[in-house]
Amino acid sequence: MTTVKTENKQREAVIVIRDLKISFGDLHVLRGVDLDLYQGENLVVLGRSGTGKSVLIKIIAGLLQPDQGTVKVLGQDVDQLNSRELDALRLKIGFSFQSSALYDSMTVRENLEFPLIRNVRNLSRSDIDKAVEEALADVGLSQTINQMPSELSGGQRKRIGIARTLILKPQIMLYDEPTAGLDPITSTEINNLINEVKERHNTSSIIITHDLTCAKTVGDRIAMLLDGRFERQGTFEEVFEDSNDERAKQFYEYNFVN
Ligand SMILES: Nc1ncnc2c1ncn2[C@@H]1O[C@H](COP(=O)(O)OP(=O)(O)O)[C@@H](O)[C@H]1O
Ligand SMILES: [Mg+2]
Repeated sequence: MTTVKTENKQREAVIVIRDLKISFGDLHVLRGVDLDLYQGENLVVLGRSGTGKSVLIKIIAGLLQPDQGTVKVLGQDVDQLNSRELDALRLKIGFSFQSSALYDSMTVRENLEFPLIRNVRNLSRSDIDKAVEEALADVGLSQTINQMPSELSGGQRKRIGIARTLILKPQIMLYDEPTAGLDPITSTEINNLINEVKERHNTSSIIITHDLTCAKTVGDRIAMLLDGRFERQGTFEEVFEDSNDERAKQFYEYNFVN
């Protein structure tokens, strides 16, 4: 596993991406992406719509094949894994995708049990109950255990979706637009939850967003995707302080002014 030395402390990279390229026909989406995710950090990927953010996390998860470049996740080269190894690796990654909806016909408890029963063998009834209770407590929704998704608010459903991911105790979390379509109060709840997950479980996360409040609240580090590459990386202040920088200005105007 790659380790780099920063500020006199060794930081272990859990995801290492080098020279990643992918095109769809004439559309060159990722044009040489380099990115590291370090153990225990929240890395925000900012970029306007259609820049390839979702494509990037699909490649990390082995759901899409890049044209060129390497992606190492937890020391394993995703490209080199057979399907069994890829399944094992995916169990260490939690996905909170825009599309990851709950099963409407199942209770909250059943929704949470589902990934556990499907992926972990030989669990006793009490193991399952304990895991469900812990995951629900993690997202502050213990009281909803017997409710149906239709009885919950949008923000609660989102949190249950995250609990369903946390139940498998992932080492890495990938959040795709976690606050999209949520009102400001609910967005704040989700942002706080993303920070709590990191603090409680020492999870390493990539948070994809174009919500600046989300980026500022959860991001230990921000990487800005522009024209198929990560042009700027740093803390929120570092990325946005230099307002004379043409590329930062261009990005800001694209996303947040118009
Ligand atoms: N499987 C695919 N086939 C063809 N084009 C795709 C595919 N997946 C994504 N794209 C295109 O790649 C670009 C980046 O998509 P995406 O990563 O979803 O953007 P976003 O940054 O908004 O998440 C878009 O123009 C999209 O239409
Ligand atoms: Mg997307």
